[in-house]
Amino acid sequence: MKATIIGAGNIGMALAEGLVLANICSKQDITITRRNASALSDLEKRGFTVSTNNSEAIKNAETVFICVLPQQLNELLEGLKPGVDVSRQLFVSVVTGAHTQVFIEKLGTDLRIIRAMPNTAMKVGESMTCLAAANATQKDIVLVKDIFNTLGQSILINEDMMSAATALCACGIAFFLRTIRAASQGGVEIGFHAHDALQIAAQTSLGAAKLLITNKTHPEEEIDKVTSPKGCTIAGLNEMEHQGLSSALIKGIKLSANIANNLYRQS
Ligand SMILES: NC(=O)c1ccc[n+]([C@@H]2O[C@H](COP(=O)([O-])OP(=O)(O)OC[C@H]3O[C@@H](n4cnc5c(N)ncnc54)[C@H](OP(=O)(O)O)[C@@H]3O)[C@@H](O)[C@H]2O)c1
Repeated sequence: MKATIIGAGNIGMALAEGLVLANICSKQDITITRRNASALSDLEKRGFTVSTNNSEAIKNAETVFICVLPQQLNELLEGLKPGVDVSRQLFVSVVTGAHTQVFIEKLGTDLRIIRAMPNTAMKVGESMTCLAAANATQKDIVLVKDIFNTLGQSILINEDMMSAATALCACGIAFFLRTIRAASQGGVEIGFHAHDALQIAAQTSLGAAKLLITNKTHPEEEIDKVTSPKGCTIAGLNEMEHQGLSSALIKGIKLSANIANNLYRQS
């Protein structure tokens, strides 16, 4: 597949590397753009095609991935128009808060556009990606699902759930990372060196997630298996709940979803 990735930041680069790792594109078939030309030379040395001219860069693309920040989108779309060919190109946007209707209004009424909300675990093939489509054919949806499934897992959702998906799935990476860091800090306080504590916390967290995914169980069912009466696990867990562990996560996720909803402004 010939792909153009507009925006060589965290997500654009994770996507580029993921597409290559999953054998969906060769490096030469991926054109990556950004405004800062000097920052592109390293990517060129690594074998990617690079450009600072977005409308030229998308002309041969079958799939165009838009990976800029919400505040950068309006300017980008203005400059992109001359290269758009709605009959040939499929657009995929990861821009937080920007509705598919924005792209359709600015780039063409027949634009096939799929919004994707992945997370940075794409780089290790473990992203959770939520997708919402407009004007896209079943073939487009299958293609984009296939792309994101090779970079982790994906689900198709209604577009009105995209802000919720942003909080739980994209911001979620940071939430879970912070809980791992907190656990490792606890590990240091009870006697482990920092690197051992981090390894133990990270692997334990991976194990917890895999138990749920493999066994298809509810977290409380797995928790019941490790909480013996009067034991140390239930004591630690209840103390965390007294301190507001679940409540803090729920409140943080609600706040993130509200903010995600308002990140993009049409004008
Ligand atoms: N980070 C996450 O975990 C995550 C997860 C899901 C979704 N998202 C969404 O994904 C999008 C990208 O996030 P990010 O973290 O990758 O941002 P980022 O690291 O800031 O990357 C943005 C990139 O866009 C480039 N850019 C800006 N304007 C451009 C233009 N007109 N033409 C070409 N390139 C342009 C920037 O480079 P220059 O300044 O050189 O142009 C930069 O490389 C955002 O909308 C974000 O909300 C992020």
